[in-house]
Amino acid sequence: MYYCFGCKKAGNIYNFLQTLRGFSFPESVEYLAKKAGIAIPEQSHFKKNENQEKKNKKQWMYRVNAFASEFFHKYLRSLAANDPRVQYLAKRGLSPETIKTFKIGIAPDSWDSLLIEMQKNQVPLKLANEIGLIKQKEKGGFYDIYRNRLMFPIYSHMGDCIGFGGRTLGDDKAKYINSPDSEIFHKGNILYGLNETAKFIRTTDQVILVEGYMDFMALYSAGIKNVVAVLGTALTPQHAKLIKRYTKNIVVLFDGDASGKLAAERSLPILLSEDLLPKIVVVPQGQDPDDYIRNHGNESFLDLLQTARDLLLFIFHDQFKGYTGQPTEKVQILQTISPSLKLISDKSLLRLYVEEIADTLRQKPSWVYEFLQTHQAQASVSKSPKKLTQVSHKSVIENKGLIDLSRVPNAELYLVNLALMREKFLSQLTDEEVLKQFSSQEVRSLLNKLQGSYRQKTNDFDKLTALMANEVVPSSSITQHLDRSWSQMDEVALEKFFNDCLKKVQEAHLKNLQKSLKEKMRSSDASQRQQHLEQFMNIQKTRQALNNTKDSN
Ligand code: CTP
Ligand code: MN
Repeated sequence: MYYCFGCKKAGNIYNFLQTLRGFSFPESVEYLAKKAGIAIPEQSHFKKNENQEKKNKKQWMYRVNAFASEFFHKYLRSLAANDPRVQYLAKRGLSPETIKTFKIGIAPDSWDSLLIEMQKNQVPLKLANEIGLIKQKEKGGFYDIYRNRLMFPIYSHMGDCIGFGGRTLGDDKAKYINSPDSEIFHKGNILYGLNETAKFIRTTDQVILVEGYMDFMALYSAGIKNVVAVLGTALTPQHAKLIKRYTKNIVVLFDGDASGKLAAERSLPILLSEDLLPKIVVVPQGQDPDDYIRNHGNESFLDLLQTARDLLLFIFHDQFKGYTGQPTEKVQILQTISPSLKLISDKSLLRLYVEEIADTLRQKPSWVYEFLQTHQAQASVSKSPKKLTQVSHKSVIENKGLIDLSRVPNAELYLVNLALMREKFLSQLTDEEVLKQFSSQEVRSLLNKLQGSYRQKTNDFDKLTALMANEVVPSSSITQHLDRSWSQMDEVALEKFFNDCLKKVQEAHLKNLQKSLKEKMRSSDASQRQQHLEQFMNIQKTRQALNNTKDSN
């Protein structure tokens, strides 16, 4: 039992962890069971062994990572004080305490030190390979992936070691190597440092979001401990959901360059849709937070933090370059900000924004409300197409250049969401043969767009959802996969779900083909009719085959 004399909260061991660490109830149970060495019985009777195996595999993966992190950490601590690598760490402001707290390590400048250590200790190499610690050589055998790097072990908010970020200590072209996506590592839903800083975030009721490991370390060492880092990815809705468990107040502290600003802009709708209250601190041009602290000191940085401004208003005011007060300019400015305004569910907060915006544009608040309402009306037009002709419905959407997903069959929407979760699903769906079976032109063009962005920047897979969120209506149709129930599905269940949806789409496609053949047969002569009939029967066979595989699943 616990009772807090400060905030008067009380409860049992489970809701203690829920409050303190932001766990869900099942997470609390799992966490405690692990601590106490108690196995949690499985619920499902059917897939028992399969699930248990999956879980065991994950546990083993955590263990292999923990082994590696111990190895890197020990190696760093074994180095002499005058070793250039140790001096580099000192120069970058990483104190011995910080190194200990975050179990920071160094990967030796060698192709097989970790490998040999793992072999000595009978660590399963197959798993080490899967989680990206070693790689198979063409001629057989393995080699270490991380060589001569500063190693940051990455922990989940539950405290399991799920991966690494390794910064080069030499002149390697890849500044950072991060763990590849695996059963235990998904870049898009990890906030670096959260397992350690959750308590500070909760007590200060605020989180500061930075872009990199080094920024994180700089703030933490400067005594600003309510901080987390996104790992080289854009903020995702999963990140926002995770943050919301601890606090609503978020300060985005991105690099003072154009891409930092763009990242902050992109994060606004994501944060607002989770009811978070985002602020921004702009680091002066050309510096990241770490540089700033090093150049100007802690005091000056604390002053900088005090300049945090409302993110929505920051983006609004940022558009006034060259503004001369003309009506078209006012509408344009409002147009960029209105999608974000519409995401605000708190009426009184919305009113404050509207008043400030109206004031700046020298209009009445009612004018802004009217603008939002007419735009809302347009958006809802697309949701009730029955009352309208096809043409007018289309023109609304085309004018705004958005992809309208409001009338897409569920199976196709689910597939889009799955494609945003796993690269393998995306690549399966963008196969030409598969793509043409989708009934919805909108989904086809969205998948093509996704594939295009992905090809350009394969490292940005996790950003795809955020990138697309502003290009489709309703945007919620591509963020379904971020819901808890989806993210908790294991690989087997996801695969099955994917195949089921794909079969639905195929089935509908074949049915459609048959329908049009039937129509053709009505108006064709005898020989043509024979051909059509054959085609019809062939399709029938394919459909039967499809249904049979369905049953065997
Ligand atoms: N990052 C990455 N892969 C890269 C480059 C960057 O994953 N090739 C991620 C890392 O999480 C990194 C963050 O993006 O911390 C920010 O990148 P950058 O500003 O280049 O690195 P810093 O953290 O500032 O590192 P340093 O100050 O040592 O240059
Ligand atoms: Mn830096």
